Amino acid sequence: MLKYSLMKILGIETSCDETAASLLDIKNGKVKVLSSIISSQIKLHAKYGGVVPSLAAREHVKNLPKVLKLTLLRSNLNSVADVDLIATTRGPGLISSLLIGTTFAKTLAWKYNKPIIGVNHLEGHIYSNWLKPIREFSILNFKFSKKMFPILNLIVSGGHTELAIMTDFGKYKIIGRTLDDAAGEAFDKIARILGLGYPGGPVISQEAERLQVTGYRLQKKLPRPMINSKDFNFSFAGLKTAVLYLVRDLLKDKKIKKLGKPTTAGIAAESQQAIVDVLVAKTVDAAEKYKAKSIMLSGGVSANKLLRTELEKAAAKKGIKFFKPEMKYTTDNASMIALAGYWQSKNIKTTPKSFATRRENKKLDRQNVKVDANLELV
Ligand code: KG4
Ligand code: ZN
Repeated sequence: MLKYSLMKILGIETSCDETAASLLDIKNGKVKVLSSIISSQIKLHAKYGGVVPSLAAREHVKNLPKVLKLTLLRSNLNSVADVDLIATTRGPGLISSLLIGTTFAKTLAWKYNKPIIGVNHLEGHIYSNWLKPIREFSILNFKFSKKMFPILNLIVSGGHTELAIMTDFGKYKIIGRTLDDAAGEAFDKIARILGLGYPGGPVISQEAERLQVTGYRLQKKLPRPMINSKDFNFSFAGLKTAVLYLVRDLLKDKKIKKLGKPTTAGIAAESQQAIVDVLVAKTVDAAEKYKAKSIMLSGGVSANKLLRTELEKAAAKKGIKFFKPEMKYTTDNASMIALAGYWQSKNIKTTPKSFATRRENKKLDRQNVKVDANLELV
């Protein structure tokens, strides 16, 4: 039988272009991240301006054994035999990337006869809020955490922009999402138009920060799509098109081939502000409507400093608690997958007998880990 008061969990994450593995140590309700290894493929995909699925899958095959080895080494474990549970991302994400990661994790489960659980990547992002830096304890206090519910989750990444009400651990209801591009995708596409490279989020915020030094401001205001719509859906494709037309017109008017640095930074700053304005306004409105006690931010775009501070300020004004993940866990990582797998497996009823012969416990058997590229948060 799994001893939930004392266990080591191996997390595997390969839903997009990061190959990640992590080891969590849980002791009497205290969680410690022993190691969190991420092998990023950013440099490889940067020259194509976005993730190339076939290249990502090839890199995962190459990197997974190395990433696992390093995770075990940094955690002072000899082998996967010392692990109590394996948690692996089963969706949503790129199908080829997901298949590589889950096949790797399932092979480990078979070889070492370990229980395994498939985790929703978006749920993983939410749980990143309960993680502390490497080797620092975070206390998993169910009773305290329950006081945070209902939680309104804003999950913003390269593939998703979702508002989800969480009424308990593992219970979600999507109340809004993007109708076209995700917030991270908007950052990436706008950065591409501006010739700033990939991924767009970090470079756009860097450009925006440069303006604080120069003091330059763009005259033109960009649209805040759907900011006044009565629902909680988003749309970012129009903003990207507005930037595209603005750049085209500026080049034409000034009869130049390339925008100057201040103009580029000005457009970057205004684009960032437009995305943040929409995200903050909708999230706070939704939190009020659904009487949320807390707002929780997660996903790659949660690394954005402006979003972190503006959402925190807006939540405080309404007297709503605000949580954000440690910077280290904002983008894709396997610690969040291991923690989500832990919560999820705790709810699986198991008898000592079914655990003795794990194959009988279908919910924690490798046959039960099924990939779903469009997996929903429910
Ligand atoms: O969660 P994530 O690592 O992967 C997905 O699940 O998609 O998110 C990646 C996305 C990219 O679109 C990237 O541009 C964005 O997160 N991102 C940021 C920042 N850092 C990463 N967006 C805005 N500001 C940032 N500082
Ligand atoms: Zn992600």
